[in-house]
Amino acid sequence: MPDASQAGSSAPLADSFGRRIGSLRISVTDRCNLRCVYCMPEDIPWLPRAQLLSLEELARVARIVVASGVRKIRLTGGEPLLRRDLPTLIELLAEIPGLDDLALTTNGTQLARLAGPLRKAGLRRVNVSLDSLDRENFARMAQRDVLAQVLAGIDAAAEASLAPVRINCVPMRGVNDHEALAFAKLARERGFEVRFIEFMPLEHGDRWGRDVMVAGSELRQRIDAVHPLVPDPGCDEHSPSRDWRFADGAPGVIGFIDSMSRPFCAHCNRIRLTADGKLRTCLFSVREHDLRELLRRGASDEEILARLRAVVATKELKHHVGDGLYVKPERTMSRIGG
Ligand code: 5AD
Ligand code: SF4
Repeated sequence: MPDASQAGSSAPLADSFGRRIGSLRISVTDRCNLRCVYCMPEDIPWLPRAQLLSLEELARVARIVVASGVRKIRLTGGEPLLRRDLPTLIELLAEIPGLDDLALTTNGTQLARLAGPLRKAGLRRVNVSLDSLDRENFARMAQRDVLAQVLAGIDAAAEASLAPVRINCVPMRGVNDHEALAFAKLARERGFEVRFIEFMPLEHGDRWGRDVMVAGSELRQRIDAVHPLVPDPGCDEHSPSRDWRFADGAPGVIGFIDSMSRPFCAHCNRIRLTADGKLRTCLFSVREHDLRELLRRGASDEEILARLRAVVATKELKHHVGDGLYVKPERTMSRIGG
């Protein structure tokens, strides 16, 4: 007979502003093999291994979250493909009933080797970060000369039907913003979805500034002037991206994640789990909520779910970049997971 606690456990996760949580982003490692200038421009200490959640712990949290209505999980890093046995984690997640969408954001350097095994394990699609199509410029931005490796990874993903391949590009003024049209050409030629993500002040160091950040609208106008764009009717309201298609019917999508110039906090349906087991209710949260301690002291699924509900209730209304109240989180992007 259903009792009150069971009814409680199947109620959807919602925050105090009525936003239902539909998406969990899991950072599986804080390590990365690149040093992108807008993210982790120099070496930073890695988390000790013992602090990372095990694959079983990650899968357990995922099961509990999906049982309470989350439909989408994205794995991030650092660079997630540096986590040993990642295909095993994908297998564990792919078999969770009710999970509709399992995705991964990677820098692509290991994809040539791993696209096949990941697809076999049950992964459906990938986002690959790619900030430049020019070898030297790529090497300047990622501080590693690996464009060819990343392009081979993208080809392998397309061949393994990890599709549609999505490309994430962070434009920086005077660095790669002149490549916007080259990215539009890539979308048209390969049928890729290219997304421009506004540079956010979450980097290690202090490179961010209004002068370096390039607003999505500026790039859209530049692309539209050459390849007229029309709004993509399939664009989902919970997606942070505003998507456009080419008016001439060419394949490909151009998306803009305008987190700075046009924040989408009101529609945000995400929570995040860091590699060391902290829940974050916002990319910009200054508070984290430890789950690892609960997991390791043998808490029941009900206790973990109760903690999740309490944490979700504290989800921030919005970020404060630009309104004078912004405090940069201690944990920077490569440790949060993007
Ligand atoms: N601002 C915007 N995007 C960033 N990313 C990493 N750091 C930043 C930042 N400071 C992007 C990466 C990756 C995604 C997870 O987040 O390029 O595509
Ligand atoms: Fe690594 Fe991604 Fe950060 Fe670049 S943006 S340093 S690839 S985690």
